[in-house]
Amino acid sequence: MNRCNIPEIWPEKGLDTADWQSRREEIVRLLCGEEYGFLPPTPAALTWDVIETDEDFCAGKAPLRKILLRAELENGNSFAFPVSVTIPNAGRPVPFFVHISFSADVPDRYMPSEEIIDSGFGVLSFCYEDVCADNGDFLSGLAGALELDGNAACGKIALWAWAAVRVMDYAATLPELDKSRAAVVGHSRLGKTALLAGAVDTRFSFVISNESGCCGAAVSRGKKGETIRNITDAFPYWFRDGFRQYAEKEPPFDQHFLLAAAAPRYVYVASAAGDEWAGPEHEFLSCVLAGKVWEALGLEGFVCKGERPVTGEPCHNGHIGYHIRDGAHYLSREDWRQFMRFISRK
Ligand code: GCU
Repeated sequence: MNRCNIPEIWPEKGLDTADWQSRREEIVRLLCGEEYGFLPPTPAALTWDVIETDEDFCAGKAPLRKILLRAELENGNSFAFPVSVTIPNAGRPVPFFVHISFSADVPDRYMPSEEIIDSGFGVLSFCYEDVCADNGDFLSGLAGALELDGNAACGKIALWAWAAVRVMDYAATLPELDKSRAAVVGHSRLGKTALLAGAVDTRFSFVISNESGCCGAAVSRGKKGETIRNITDAFPYWFRDGFRQYAEKEPPFDQHFLLAAAAPRYVYVASAAGDEWAGPEHEFLSCVLAGKVWEALGLEGFVCKGERPVTGEPCHNGHIGYHIRDGAHYLSREDWRQFMRFISRK
């Protein structure tokens, strides 16, 4: 434990890659076992059909393709969900985002497609509620197909994260995409989801959370705004059943473990100064604490001048990218611009 009673991820100074490999796997097991539940198994097969194309999307700069991704599950059921794909005609593989979206719209208020295309990035987006409803129903959608039978051993965040991993399976088959620059991104509850997807699937070289707050990027101990009690009262079904116990006692981990699970890859935390519910100070603290893992591995972790978050001064030099902007809870163009700047510099 360090001085704030926050569990350390790695107590010693030096850390070699092999040690980290097994510690990382242990951390992912701990987070899934205690908090989110384990993602369902990899499907036996994955197929897709193109259901719509718009060659003129954004003046033809990046055709819009809608596909239906179908997974054959272990129990013999199949489950399908739609994914929208925009990849700029660049003549070379481009970096890309898997965007776990609140909406199926392309563009969407949280996804400025043309700006992303003009910056040379592809996007594969899906609407989280096309995977399963954002409520306590575990009988329909992916939960139904998996026959979870109302048993929330695995919460909805883990089910949405599973879908993001399936989209990455599909992305891996597309030669137009640069697989060394694959990012997973989400806002708020879907920022929590992006962090979990990126913790589990190391093909995501950039793991990006926007204002994910409680049970996302923000350290819970001493946090302002939303607490584990608030979140498990309002959204118990986001988590595995037993997670509620940590409304009463401190968990044997904290959320900087989730950021560190991305090491030695890149992780990005974006905050908004007006988003007190998410707890920007504790999102920042999480970066400071998680950064020690990269440093122990001999890499640059969280390279930030001050000891507190400062708007207008993004920290883009280490493996943990960070910015805090003015304003309220939102996934804005400015946030996307910062993500793309960070990825482009690496
Ligand atoms: C609620 C919830 C947050 C969540 C947010 C969102 O405010 O308490 O934990 O991040 O919804 O997803 O928009």
